[in-house]
Amino acid sequence: MKRKVTIFILFFTVFFSLLSQHKAQAGNNPEVKGKKKGEKPASSKLPFIEKAQKNRDERMAWWRDAKLGMFIHWGVYAIPAGTWKGKEYGGIGEWIMSHADIPKEEYETLPPKFNPVKFDAKQWVQIAKSAGMKYMVITSKHHDGFCMFDSKATDYDIVDATPYGKDVLKPLSIECKKAKIKFCTYYSILDWHHPDQKLRDENGKHNYGNNEIKRGKKREYIEYVKAHLKELVNNYGIDLLWFDGGWMSWWKPKNGKELVNYLWSISPDIIINNRATGKAKKHIADYGTPEQRIPKEGSDRDFETCMTMNDTWGFKKNDHKWKSTKTLIVNLVDIVSKGGNYLLNVGPTEEGLIPQPSVERLTQIGQWLKINGEAIYGTKRWKVYRENPSEEKSRKFANLEFRFTAKENVVYAACLSWPDKPVKIKSLGKEGSPNIKVRAVKMLGSDEQLQWTQDMNFLTITPPQTRPCDHVYVFRIILE
Ligand code: GLC
Repeated sequence: MKRKVTIFILFFTVFFSLLSQHKAQAGNNPEVKGKKKGEKPASSKLPFIEKAQKNRDERMAWWRDAKLGMFIHWGVYAIPAGTWKGKEYGGIGEWIMSHADIPKEEYETLPPKFNPVKFDAKQWVQIAKSAGMKYMVITSKHHDGFCMFDSKATDYDIVDATPYGKDVLKPLSIECKKAKIKFCTYYSILDWHHPDQKLRDENGKHNYGNNEIKRGKKREYIEYVKAHLKELVNNYGIDLLWFDGGWMSWWKPKNGKELVNYLWSISPDIIINNRATGKAKKHIADYGTPEQRIPKEGSDRDFETCMTMNDTWGFKKNDHKWKSTKTLIVNLVDIVSKGGNYLLNVGPTEEGLIPQPSVERLTQIGQWLKINGEAIYGTKRWKVYRENPSEEKSRKFANLEFRFTAKENVVYAACLSWPDKPVKIKSLGKEGSPNIKVRAVKMLGSDEQLQWTQDMNFLTITPPQTRPCDHVYVFRIILE
């Protein structure tokens, strides 16, 4: 009996001391602090979302001027590079764990082989810089759950689990800052490695795209994500968080809201894309992320088209379906004319090299931007974003397609093919633009004086004799 009483007393002492410890901890937590009885926790009021929405224009200023960014999909999936146990798989490279249905334990054999000795942060940043890119978004953790940065929250990261043993995000963040490129990270909520999530079995097949959260484990997982976000903010000084993998049925709007509210509480100026809160009824995030497509029309809502240069995000050794430089430049011009940004992807190899075909294209984009950058950076949508080739065939005039951008008293008219004859622009005729009087016309990169007239119907321009660049040719039209 005496023993029973002692155990009983011991039990209560431990219980109450744990309880008071928990309360003390909650007292230090800004999300719980100040909570009165019967009141909802402060986190449900989402004060930091409200604040961030109020100063969106200020926060988004650099992003809206930037127009072109580099997306980097890099992880241990660069080792299989699309092939698993001798079999080549279709689809995007970073999804190999799903495509080949690789069990976790087998996938875990990849990090011990990951040794990107040729990785050179300075060189990557230089490639982005000379392509005219103003920001960089790199995968900190993709769906495979492997962290490309040094995290205290897990050992499944590049420092603890690979022979390379070094952080790659750190030197990139340093080099980006030196080069005045904004440093940003991609982060996947979907996680095929974390023990709190598990694959759904559907008719004997694993559904990687819509997995499950284990019962009672969501809170733990959200705290894991928050720990990562805190590390990314504090140790890498990120300017933007690019969420992904928030489409699973267990990921609810309130979970997304909690996450972005938290992120804005620790980093009030950060920009956040829409993929953690995409299911919420109101737009909470800063911008939309159309994937591999360009919206048909421009809109007042900020958007960023992300796109691959071949058919994969993560490196695949047999994907050689490269888009031409011309296509990439036309895409950039088209997107910017609609008011958006272009986030163009590279998928580095397991050794740490950006594939040569990507480098070539990026160099050419950079050469084009050196001449035509003023029609891109810092511009806004004009009243119309395009003009189609005219329907009537003419021997006197070139029949081509235009995209427009604008800045203060300048309209830029980008010709998507070389104007070998005079061009007519209807939207700049006096009837199309009654309040607009043209004062001067020039082609960017050319010193030639151009003949032009503005009448009721058209602004007619005789182009220069010599092409100042390749691919797309821009008239700078200065207005009175
Ligand atoms: C998709 C894919 C992912 C890729 C992303 C880029 O969400 O699941 O692999 O990273 O698109 O937008």
